[in-house]
Amino acid sequence: MVTTLAFDVYGTLIDTNGVIIALEKHVGNKASEFSRTWREKQLEYSFRRGLMQNYENFDICTSNALDYTSSYFKVLLSQKEKEGLMSAYKVLPAFDDVDDGLAKAKKAGFRMYAFSNGSADAVETLLKNTGIRDYFIDVVSVDEMKSYKPNPGVYSHFLRRAGALGANAWLVSSNPFDVIGAISTGMRAAWIKRSPEALFDPWGIEPTLTINSLSNLAKQIDEECRKA
Ligand code: 2OP
Repeated sequence: MVTTLAFDVYGTLIDTNGVIIALEKHVGNKASEFSRTWREKQLEYSFRRGLMQNYENFDICTSNALDYTSSYFKVLLSQKEKEGLMSAYKVLPAFDDVDDGLAKAKKAGFRMYAFSNGSADAVETLLKNTGIRDYFIDVVSVDEMKSYKPNPGVYSHFLRRAGALGANAWLVSSNPFDVIGAISTGMRAAWIKRSPEALFDPWGIEPTLTINSLSNLAKQIDEECRKA
């Protein structure tokens, strides 16, 4: 049976820290810290909206998180400046290993999907802008479920949409919460650990594979599938 790969988008294929250059104009040498807080709040808001069953799409989480972060850093952004930062978020870059890793996985014959908390429109724009859209059969957005990862329902939704079974489907993600969510729903999962400092949550639920670069993904998943 052909193996299906569900690629997480923000933080895995697309570098959310790509917004740092646009932020430097507003917060100077605090741009990295601002970017980290913005991303953490964006995720927190998505988790909370999922728990509260008060769904608004990921762009709203990103926008609300930007408002919070600018207040936290005491930066007064005009409406135009805020729109400029939100626009920068729509054209974030891909990580350096992405094109090579996706090309190898495609060549190896995996069925590849993008699977994201982002809205389908936002994800399509990011993937097209970085030139990687054609690697994927389709984009599956949690927006179709009006909930967020790591709600188990959205992973089951992905499997239905992709016509795949959990034992034959892998989530590929740099986000530990996403890896734990997928494994808990019966999928396999590769954690992309791009930096030696990255930590995995100590929940006693481990990734099926830990991989330090997407360039090694196809080979490592293929070896793992042969073992099974
Ligand atoms: C994504 O779903 C979790 O932000 C990450 O693209």
